[in-house]
Amino acid sequence: MARYVITGGNRLEGTVTISGAKNAAVAILPAAILVKGKCRVENVPDISDVRIMLRILADLGAKIEYEAPSTIILDCTDIHSSCPNPEYVRKMRASYYLMGALLSRFHEAHVALPGGCNFAARPIDQHIKGFAALGADVDETEDYVNLKPGPKGLQGAKISLDVVSVGATVNIIMAACLLPGKTVIENAAKEPHIVDLANFLNTMGAHISGAGTDTVKIYGVEELKGGSYAIIPDQIEAGTYLAAVAATGGNVLVQNIIPKHMECITSKLQEMGVQFIYYDDAVRVISDGRLQHTTVKTRPYPGFPTDMQSQICVCMSIAEGISRLTESVYETRFFGYCTELASMGADILISGKTAIISGRENLSGAVVRAHDLRAGAALVIAGLVAQGATEVENINFIERGYERLVEKMNALGADIKRLEK
Ligand code: EPU
Repeated sequence: MARYVITGGNRLEGTVTISGAKNAAVAILPAAILVKGKCRVENVPDISDVRIMLRILADLGAKIEYEAPSTIILDCTDIHSSCPNPEYVRKMRASYYLMGALLSRFHEAHVALPGGCNFAARPIDQHIKGFAALGADVDETEDYVNLKPGPKGLQGAKISLDVVSVGATVNIIMAACLLPGKTVIENAAKEPHIVDLANFLNTMGAHISGAGTDTVKIYGVEELKGGSYAIIPDQIEAGTYLAAVAATGGNVLVQNIIPKHMECITSKLQEMGVQFIYYDDAVRVISDGRLQHTTVKTRPYPGFPTDMQSQICVCMSIAEGISRLTESVYETRFFGYCTELASMGADILISGKTAIISGRENLSGAVVRAHDLRAGAALVIAGLVAQGATEVENINFIERGYERLVEKMNALGADIKRLEK
């Protein structure tokens, strides 16, 4: 298994360019199933989750061409199956989007239950509730979801989500696009990638309004045609670089971002003493001197993202004073990395949904293991800060979602070696 060997202690300086958003890409690529025609998609990140999704689509009969390293032409016109290869479906979380997309296009879908990062129980009952409300007959087996039209057929409906769910919002938007009538999703998620998906589908001829608010309306259309679209920059990748610079100290221009998406993250780092200078599509992060303690509670967008919990935890681990970090989306998310950080000298006490973090002057290098994508990113940041060498194992999790992490960090002055064991 490949691993990263990190020699800590370097300040980060220079410029880093953020890639296309993972969580938008893994929704937009399967959404192309709804389109008869060529979708030209720019800013597609080269990460393993995207490679798996493209593999699944190719298996189903999609044609994929690369116009440039991050621009693909995806043509799903000739897709012939509503049963994606379970071996690949089980390798990632977002493969559940194939359910909504295939249901809309073929009025049936047979999709294995997804795999991916397992940092918490990740039920899909709200996705299923949405499909059933749209008229689908849902047959859930131990490892499969089978969808077909129920006795009244498939049509638009009003669905009020019991929990704010990104995945359920995306899946219902896709499922409803080609169904007759109007669908209303209440208590919808508002994350930037929901807006990006809706913008992509509208570019292809869908009629979706309200994405980015808690009520999304989808007016069914008969068909979607091809077009060209650029995926938004990755809010969490950008946030990870901001947290890394905050922790190591330094001065870095983070470019290709949407400043509005970053405010929920920079506001907290600012409280810790980090400075930011905003430009139209970039932000300069400047960190000097010791970070100060703060209090953070994760929430759905526009709150502080759960996907940045572990990275800010590293900043808190070396900040002056006692910080409190409360997780309100996935209660068990601390367990994947806090014991690893403790082995590097962090002082973290977990009490229910809250981690109480007593900042130390420094961390020390250790052999640690990534248990999921964001936990892995946090361990990389910890390794960049720590005295001595840190080995991060299980880096396949990290490479699911960070494009060229080693190259980008090293260009800023980090010392990370990727070793194939
Ligand atoms: N939930 C339910 N039932 C459902 C769906 C969700 O109870 O049917 C609960 C979950 O257990 C959780 C909360 O609702 O407590 C929110 O879950 P959500 O559905 O929003 O999460 P997701 O769609 O599975 C996406 C991202 C995650 C990110 C979460 C929260 C993708 C592919 N994944 O997951 O990203 O943590 O939203 O923002 O978009 C990552 O990028 O590392 C990652 C894990």
